[in-house]
Amino acid sequence: MSFDLEQTDELLSTTRAVRRRLDLERDVPDDLLLRCIELAEQAPSGGDISSRRWLVIRDPETKKQLADLYRAAGGNGVMERAEQHRGTGHPKQGVLESAAHLAANLERVPVLVLATVWGVHDGSGRPGLFDSVIQAAWSFCLALRARGLGSAWTTLHLGKAKEFAEILGIPDGVTQVVLLPVAWTIGTEFKPASRRPASEIVWFDRWGYTKETLGDVESLIAAGPGVTVEIDIAAPPERVWELASDINISARFSSEFQGAEWIDADGPREGASFIGKNKRTDVNREWETTSYVVACDPPRVFAWNVNDRDEPSAQWRFELEKIPGGTRLRQRLIIGPRLSATGHAMKDNPDRAQQILASRQEQHRGNMALNLQGIKSLAENGA
Ligand SMILES: Cc1cc2nc3c(=O)[nH]c(=O)nc-3n(C[C@H](O)[C@H](O)[C@H](O)COP(=O)(O)O)c2cc1C
Repeated sequence: MSFDLEQTDELLSTTRAVRRRLDLERDVPDDLLLRCIELAEQAPSGGDISSRRWLVIRDPETKKQLADLYRAAGGNGVMERAEQHRGTGHPKQGVLESAAHLAANLERVPVLVLATVWGVHDGSGRPGLFDSVIQAAWSFCLALRARGLGSAWTTLHLGKAKEFAEILGIPDGVTQVVLLPVAWTIGTEFKPASRRPASEIVWFDRWGYTKETLGDVESLIAAGPGVTVEIDIAAPPERVWELASDINISARFSSEFQGAEWIDADGPREGASFIGKNKRTDVNREWETTSYVVACDPPRVFAWNVNDRDEPSAQWRFELEKIPGGTRLRQRLIIGPRLSATGHAMKDNPDRAQQILASRQEQHRGNMALNLQGIKSLAENGA
């Protein structure tokens, strides 16, 4: 048997949170739900013990009670925020309006499916609960999508799990994991969401070690090896940006940093260049580089290429992402493609190339972590 990858990939990439396009008028037959749950039950479970239990809720009065609890547990807040953001062009406006629509209409969705599991969290860290339900519940969502139905993963109600349990007669010792409103979808075309490319979030062999180029490459450097370090900072992106884009602050916690100076500008802007002075005591080397700012988009991205704008020996990039309560600051480094001192050392010692690269990656990772920690301290405490 060989799979039609075009179809399976389409299924995997377009199973969206469907809320506004749930058909509230068309009934969903039981046998279809049971078939989808049967497929979902093929998912693995801790200890290979059948502990998942699924509640299919259609009774209008029960759905109304559950929907009221969903709103009380957070749905009302979502509806208020959607109202505040309406027409403002806020990046989360679409999701908020969609979530608010579901909160306002939950009782009108033909079926609510509650996925639960026998067991309670014992804090042991062993698999057993969420990890025995989530994979099955997601398979259920995929099976629905393949048949023209849709759902949205919801957990807001968990703040009222006790009340849910009373209404539905769920015994003690059972944990609720996800509430899936199920309906036929209005139209079946859905688009893949915009997500971070895998190369930016996959580490090879060690935390933070990246590869930009996959497949057959003629050398380790051609694979685009790099390092990514991230930190969450309790300060707004604008404040973090000031520090990350200041060439005399953003690297100064590194053991190699000796100072930096703008050549043809007095601050960060695309196209500007700066001199960086560096020192490594382990190899007894001092050197200067010229760097070229290749992206400057406050308060999101600040990036520069070292030695040559188009064929750099290193590519550095700060990325700032607004998260609840602050900013996620990410610094990415790609080594090469032009050979730097490390690249030359690798070329001259082919049998030790992997080791030379890994040790340089480790040095960079340590320095980058110090810099991000320093930026965090400055942004949060000014110290
Ligand atoms: C753990 C988890 C909890 C969620 N809880 C809710 C919820 O309570 N209500 C809701 O409308 N959406 C909820 N969502 C759906 C997300 O908002 C959804 O993934 C997001 O809108 C992105 O949609 P997309 O998957 O179609 O790109 C939840 C998703 C996850 C993974």
